[in-house]
Amino acid sequence: MSLESIPRAKGRIPGLGHVPRLMRAPLGVLRSLHAEGPVLRLDIGTMPVVTVTSAEAVNEVMVKKARSFRKGRLFERVRPLVGNGLANSDGPGHMRNRRLIQPMFYKERLEGYAHVMSKRAQALSDSWSDGQVVHVDQAMGTYAIETLAATLFSTDIGAPAVRSVREDLPVILNSMLLRALAPKALDRLPIWRAFDRSAARMRSVIDDVIAATRASDPEGRTDLLSLLLSARDETGAGLTDEEVRDELTTMLFAGTETTASTLAWALYHLSQRPDVEAALLTEIDEAIGDRPVTFADVPRLPGISRVLDEVIRLHGVVSLMRRTNESVTVGGYDIPAETEVLISLYALHRHPGLYPDPDRFDPDRWLPERVAERPREHVVPFGAGNRKCIGDRFSWLEATITLATVLRQWQLSPVPGSKAPREATAAMAHPTKVPMVVRRRARG
Ligand code: HEM
Repeated sequence: MSLESIPRAKGRIPGLGHVPRLMRAPLGVLRSLHAEGPVLRLDIGTMPVVTVTSAEAVNEVMVKKARSFRKGRLFERVRPLVGNGLANSDGPGHMRNRRLIQPMFYKERLEGYAHVMSKRAQALSDSWSDGQVVHVDQAMGTYAIETLAATLFSTDIGAPAVRSVREDLPVILNSMLLRALAPKALDRLPIWRAFDRSAARMRSVIDDVIAATRASDPEGRTDLLSLLLSARDETGAGLTDEEVRDELTTMLFAGTETTASTLAWALYHLSQRPDVEAALLTEIDEAIGDRPVTFADVPRLPGISRVLDEVIRLHGVVSLMRRTNESVTVGGYDIPAETEVLISLYALHRHPGLYPDPDRFDPDRWLPERVAERPREHVVPFGAGNRKCIGDRFSWLEATITLATVLRQWQLSPVPGSKAPREATAAMAHPTKVPMVVRRRARG
């Protein structure tokens, strides 16, 4: 089986492949692919990558034929740098650890994390003053890191880890994608020094917290680290310290930029849609008033859910990578074994055939009657199948609690004269600068 039957995307330059086209406008290229075909071949230099953009083909890769795929090159490159947690591992090791960790995201646990989130959201809101300029992109970045760290580590032991994560994680996240894509031969370049220093420091700080938590009395502790340390599989075996460190690191990587970007875009889009914002304020007032927002409140805030659905559709995880274990047919095309495959969620979620006027922020797309008409495979911002995001409900909870807490106290509007944020390409299509002025709301 060869790749010859798969149509090539336009704009290939011999030797460089589609790299120049991708460098010019990566998101633009991804979203234009569906017009050329649901399954296409892109050449990254001389490496062929098969891109998959239709709902049916994406579902084949993620769910129906998931056994024919593993994570692939990107993850092999990332593994030595950030460890072998759930997002990077494959096969029986992934399945065992996924089963061990899944209960940490069950309802009872989420109820506990919601208390921490609610307190942190109120502290964020209370830290602002009337007329202050808040750089929402940065503020949400720090907030998401600190909030996740506060649920991962117990407060008494975790303080130094939270500090290190706050400083080191952004350095790592900023260059991780570039580092993973760069050839191995360039690993020793001095430009990676800051990355390596931050990665080493974060590892060692997390190791210290693991040792301190193991040595402490685990009775009654409900932070995620304590739960990881006491998890046991059916043979009675638990996770080694190294596995626990890799899982914590993975959650920090997977769970901070994603949540921060979602919150920053939500606040920006709401500032552009006073009608939607006004409806949310009524909803928050009727469902909650001034008391802390809890886990049980999430279903009582459907307007916020619709805003989040729409933000994640527009600006969610851009693409997922896989490699074929064996030859497999996707969308009617034969893909040989050991081929890199890129699933573009960005293209899927902005497909004009699925979402009319796809670039428009329109939370009404998520009204129950319209959701009922939409096949489930059209909406996969958290992935699907056995690799589906383990933190989906966690991030929804955090984003809902944060928006409800902040919005009832503050009205945010872009700093006059500032440019509208653009999408930067990283794991998420996160916003470039979002400077906003916060104004205290008059409470009726
Ligand atoms: C808006 C927020 C988030 C979005 C849009 C998001 C999206 C995703 C997606 C699309 C995947 C699938 C990756 C693949 O199939 O290759 C994934 C996996 C994952 N996510 Fe999230 N995520 C979010 C928040 C979180 C949070 C808060 C956590 C942790 C607390 C988290 C932890 C993970 C982990 C560990 C995986 C790997 C799961 C596995 O392979 O078994 N994510 N996420």
